Amino acid sequence: MKQWKFSKLFAVVMALMLVLAACSSGGSEEEEAGTDNGNEAKEEVVKLVYASGKDTTKATDMIIEEFNKTHPNIQVEFREMPSDSGAIHDAFVTALNAGDTSIDVMALDVVWPAEFAQAGYVLPLDRFIQQDGLDLGEYNQGAVSAASFNGKQWALPRFIDTGLLFYRTDLVSGDEVPQTWDDLTAKSAELNGQGGTKFGYLMQAKQYEGLVCNALEYIAAYGGNFLDENGNVIINSPEAIKGLNKLVEVANSDYVPANITTFTEIESHTAFIEGQSPFIRNWPYQWNVANNPEESKIVDKIGVAPLPQGDAGSAAALGGWMTAISKYSEHPKEAWEFVKFIAGKEGQKISAIHGGLAPTIPALFEDQEVLDVNPFFANEGFVSGLNAAVSRPVVPNYAEISEIIQIQVSKAIAGQQTVEEAVKNMETQMKEKLGK
Ligand code: GLC
Repeated sequence: MKQWKFSKLFAVVMALMLVLAACSSGGSEEEEAGTDNGNEAKEEVVKLVYASGKDTTKATDMIIEEFNKTHPNIQVEFREMPSDSGAIHDAFVTALNAGDTSIDVMALDVVWPAEFAQAGYVLPLDRFIQQDGLDLGEYNQGAVSAASFNGKQWALPRFIDTGLLFYRTDLVSGDEVPQTWDDLTAKSAELNGQGGTKFGYLMQAKQYEGLVCNALEYIAAYGGNFLDENGNVIINSPEAIKGLNKLVEVANSDYVPANITTFTEIESHTAFIEGQSPFIRNWPYQWNVANNPEESKIVDKIGVAPLPQGDAGSAAALGGWMTAISKYSEHPKEAWEFVKFIAGKEGQKISAIHGGLAPTIPALFEDQEVLDVNPFFANEGFVSGLNAAVSRPVVPNYAEISEIIQIQVSKAIAGQQTVEEAVKNMETQMKEKLGK
């Protein structure tokens, strides 16, 4: 009897202890350490959420799967955000302003680190980097500096983007690839509707972040820019006007889809892999999607070239995504393990092979497995193009500047104002927002 009473008491105490342990572990779960007697120390499994834009490839899932397999005490779940950079931005800002603790690791567009750092949305990574002796010298330095602000490192660059011209090798021979924007417009008009196509050229002309990138490429190809290196607004220039006029001409031509102002990357790459156009302006991932037999009708028929030249040469916008830790994460240490993995060699290799994303660790451009699937990564022009890519304005209130550009360029495309009026408005409004 006594014996029974004792073991009953013991059971109650044990149950209480379990309840207490469960309460104190917050969002984590307790799990047996996998020993045979079950009395060994229990190990905590930390659950993390990684929030990032929609991935049209399987790369993100594969990275997470590999991480979870190799880090049994940390389990990452993918929270897929919209695909449009601006929509992701707004969703993050809303969540972080509300102190949302459900997101641990976030993908940041290359244009956000200054804003996110200044707003205190993300944790500085310097302490982690030092502790682990991570060598940032292994990374592309432009990408590293895009994620540093006020002397601190706020994110690790995961992949780098640069605008490229993709063409159909069955419709355009190597020596016919347009060298200038004038060549491109002529060739697109000529091939429009030929060889089973419906169009001559595809781009991103919706009023969103991608339009800023397309606009910058035309402006810079003709020698203009939004800001100079000291942050002064220089958009109202003859060079910028010429570049934007070219963009307006292309977007209003009859060789682009009639609804081109609804096209983001997804609509344009879908039309391209359906075989609807000989040319497209897109980011490096286009290669991977176009060569995927499960979804593409143009496998093995794709060539890559630099974007066409204007009066000042060829210019490509610098894009790419970073990985950062939310300030409100309850598990920053574990979050760092995931940041290191996804933005490290292993994660970047998966992204490159299965997602066609260009690494920010240059050594991976020499990795044979990466090159086997992305042969153009070996082109000298590609790597030097990455280093020469043109940045969008690097300012903490970039989102406001971007909105000004998006609205003014869209109005010019729609014929609601001239390009001269668009640059004048951009100049006035940007000066106001930047206090210059
Ligand atoms: C790509 C780029 C990103 C850019 C976006 C625009 O995702 O990497 O930097 O802002 O396209 O749509």
